[in-house]
Parts: sequence; C-alpha cells; structure tokens
Amino acid sequence: MSDSPPLTGDTREQLQSAARKAAENAYAPYSGFRVGAALLFDDGFISTGCNVENVSYGLTICAERTALFSAIAQRGPAHKIVAIAVTNLNAAPSPPCGACRQVLAEFAAPNAIISFPGDNGLEQRPFAEIFPFAFHLDPK
Ligand code: THU
Repeated sequence: MSDSPPLTGDTREQLQSAARKAAENAYAPYSGFRVGAALLFDDGFISTGCNVENVSYGLTICAERTALFSAIAQRGPAHKIVAIAVTNLNAAPSPPCGACRQVLAEFAAPNAIISFPGDNGLEQRPFAEIFPFAFHLDPK
C-alpha cells in the first residue's frame, strides 16, 4: 500500500525493542515460546504485551491481544493503532495468528505498519496486506 505512514527505522527499532522486553515477561511453561508485542497509538502511546499460557491450553492469550486489551483497559477505546511490532525470544518466525489479526483489525488503521519475524528475517507490511477482507459489522 502506497499511503502507509512513514515508519522510521528508529520507530520500528524502538517498537521491536519494547516487544522484546515484553517477551521477557511471557508465561509460556507449556510451549516454551515467548512472544512480545508492542502497539504504537496515534497519540504516541505505546502498549506492550506478552503471551500468558494456561494449563487449559485454549485459555492461553497471545502477546498481541494482551497488548491491545491492556491499552483499552488503561485508556479506553478512543485511539487507533498506527504501528505494531511482534517478536519472540525463540529466534523463530512469528507473524500474528489469525485470531489476533481479527482483534487488532478492530483498532488498527489499515495502513498501520506491522513488523514481525518472518521466514527470511524481519517483515514489514501494511496491516491491510496481512489481513485483507476483514469482517466488519456496522454498529446499529
Ligand atoms: N502466540 C502469541 O503470543 N502470538 C501469536 O500471534 C501466535 C502464538 C503464543 C501463544 C502460545 O503461548 C505460544 O505462542 C505458542 O503458540
């Protein structure tokens, strides 16, 4: 997408670094896969999150959703996400899962840049490119 906001290398590195720091707090005794996410909002606020697993595996929450829900809980729903960073401490690819894409789509600007470890190093894409045809429902 050509109208993505400029995301400088510095901002991307700052977000990736915040995501790495958050991943240090991951609770992942079952998978051993420690994930961190950082969300930059349109007013400069950064929210971070890590994955929190549960012995009842399906109750696990991913880093991306932790970061988003934490931001909403702290400040309410008024702000849009303009950039996203995801990383892990396992030196593995970790694009956000489908469930997290749907949840992030609720608050992410379509041209928000998301960076994440891909198969060939760090990927950077406009959010709409990794989650096209998102489900929408106009509020009544
Ligand atoms: N995980 C995330 O935190 N984010 C994702 O987008 C994909 C998966 C976590 C969930 C679980 O704790 C571990 O990674 C292995 O699936």
